[in-house]
Amino acid sequence: MSRLEIRKAREDDLPKIEKLLEEASLPTLAVAEHLNNYRVAKNGDTVIGAIGLEVYDGTALLRSTVVSPNEQGKGIGTLLYDTIVKYAKGLGIRRLLLLTNTAEEYFRRRGFKVIDQQSITGPVTNSVEFTGACPSHAVCMELSL
Ligand SMILES: CC(C)(COP(=O)(O)OP(=O)(O)OC[C@H]1O[C@@H](n2cnc3c(N)ncnc32)[C@H](O)[C@@H]1OP(=O)(O)O)[C@@H](O)C(=O)NCCC(=O)NCCS
Repeated sequence: MSRLEIRKAREDDLPKIEKLLEEASLPTLAVAEHLNNYRVAKNGDTVIGAIGLEVYDGTALLRSTVVSPNEQGKGIGTLLYDTIVKYAKGLGIRRLLLLTNTAEEYFRRRGFKVIDQQSITGPVTNSVEFTGACPSHAVCMELSL
């Protein structure tokens, strides 16, 4: 892992991000629209991880947290997460939300708390993750920044 780099996603990273998401059974819908708020982990020329935000005023939806299966468990997910949280704080985001079927414990360890999805109001509810890209039984979690 000598050439690991975390950087802002570029247009030409999109197909690889979508492939990683598909392989992890995570939604790809509307990633392109929010690519400006994505970060990627790269090992040389290869995209090995991603994470993104959908920004809605002071709230952002954290989505697309993914690391290539053969690169997991090396701290790359944590690096991506720390990078995006720092970025969110810089944007003035006060609250992160996420929906997950697979990583409740992962985010609980990072301070997120489970909340009732029905309690969420405002523009973030227009996100594709809320309008159907995530299964209705997905767990909704919140973190105040
Ligand atoms: C979640 C994910 C991004 C973590 O990336 P990673 O690079 O493996 O994470 P790190 O190496 O920084 O952290 C690994 C730690 O997280 C734990 N972990 C990894 N995935 C987890 C999960 N789904 N639930 C709970 N804990 C998890 C590991 O057991 C490990 O714990 P340890 O430090 O106590 O040994 C990666 O496992 C992944 O891509 N999963 C599939 C996609 C997914 O479910 N994404 C979440 C969408 S909401």
